[in-house]
Amino acid sequence: MKPNFDAVLNALRSLNRPDIKIKDLKVFDGGKISLGLLTRDATAKETVEKALKAIANVTEVAVTVDAPAAGATATGAPSTRMTGIPGVANIIAVSSGKGGVGKSTVSVNLATSLALEGYKVGLLDADIYGPNIPTMMGVTENPKLYMDPAKGEMFVPPVSHGVRVMSMGFLLEGDQPVIWRGPMLHNILNQFCTRVDWGALDYLILDLPPGTGDVQLSLAQMLPLTGTVIVTTPQEVALQDVRKALHMWEKVKVPVIGVVENMSYFKGDDGKQYNIFGQGGGDMLAKKFNTKLLAQMPLVMLVREGGDEGKPIVVKALESESATKFRELARKVATEVQNATGDKPIEIGQF
Ligand SMILES: Nc1ncnc2c1ncn2[C@@H]1O[C@H](COP(=O)(O)OP(=O)(O)OP(=O)(O)O)[C@@H](O)[C@H]1O
Ligand SMILES: [Mg+2]
Repeated sequence: MKPNFDAVLNALRSLNRPDIKIKDLKVFDGGKISLGLLTRDATAKETVEKALKAIANVTEVAVTVDAPAAGATATGAPSTRMTGIPGVANIIAVSSGKGGVGKSTVSVNLATSLALEGYKVGLLDADIYGPNIPTMMGVTENPKLYMDPAKGEMFVPPVSHGVRVMSMGFLLEGDQPVIWRGPMLHNILNQFCTRVDWGALDYLILDLPPGTGDVQLSLAQMLPLTGTVIVTTPQEVALQDVRKALHMWEKVKVPVIGVVENMSYFKGDDGKQYNIFGQGGGDMLAKKFNTKLLAQMPLVMLVREGGDEGKPIVVKALESESATKFRELARKVATEVQNATGDKPIEIGQF
């Protein structure tokens, strides 16, 4: 049983010690909690360990202690950055120029992997024309509604695999085709941003529809995106579309966190690697746009099956090569974001 993340935060908060800063807080499935303290108080480690060990399901507490940098004040600057959505620290869009390259697959596995790392994660299916995140995350409930006296009707996203999920799919009945244009489109995206009670999130992952159209532009205008992860296949045809997408993100000044090359190779029963969709495209693209190739994902039947069954591969087959690579990708994305935003230490009392 995994310790409750909120219980961990509450325990830290109730210490009421603004002189201790917390960094790299992680809560693991097996009951381990790891975190770093920035403090000059020699007894802080013991105090924090004691508070965390008292929480249900905690089996181990690993604490490292560092002294704050010279010149840092006791309270320092607040770390939990705010995006346009209150309580949400980072918004990452998963995008591509072309359809069917695996954006949704990367989104669900990235979101679930970040949750497995102990982060608080939301996943917004911004593909309002073809929402398939509820299926891929295996969400069976609809969002709950409540009335907020100030904001009006608010949606509480259902949780699946530790991720809070919101999708247009919840708001449609049956197989209605969706035709959103101009102001209506802007309005529905705005509702997703303002009428969803995400709670406190480290990462909100946006699964975008393909292309460089209205949805991308509306979102970029509406939300200060932390950055985007671009998904491509290795082949040139896909690359032409992806280049368009990269230019668009440059224009709207959204940083590109890196490139994920999906369907990079297939490993046959003979142990040989087949480059079905060509080779080297992700690397070329990353170089051309001065960003990183974050991962090369193999083409694997279980990944497709996991998507259809609502079990991302990082849950369905934890030990598989694909799962390992998605977990690595998530850690890289978190590191890139933390490096770019300088968003490391969190002050107790500031969550
Ligand atoms: N690495 C992979 N191995 C096997 N199947 C994959 C892989 N990546 C994606 N797929 C499958 O390919 C199909 C398309 O993937 P996905 O829906 O993630 O793409 P997309 O870019 O989100 O598509 P769209 O542009 O329609 O939103 C899905 O059936 C998915 O399960
Ligand atoms: Mg998709």
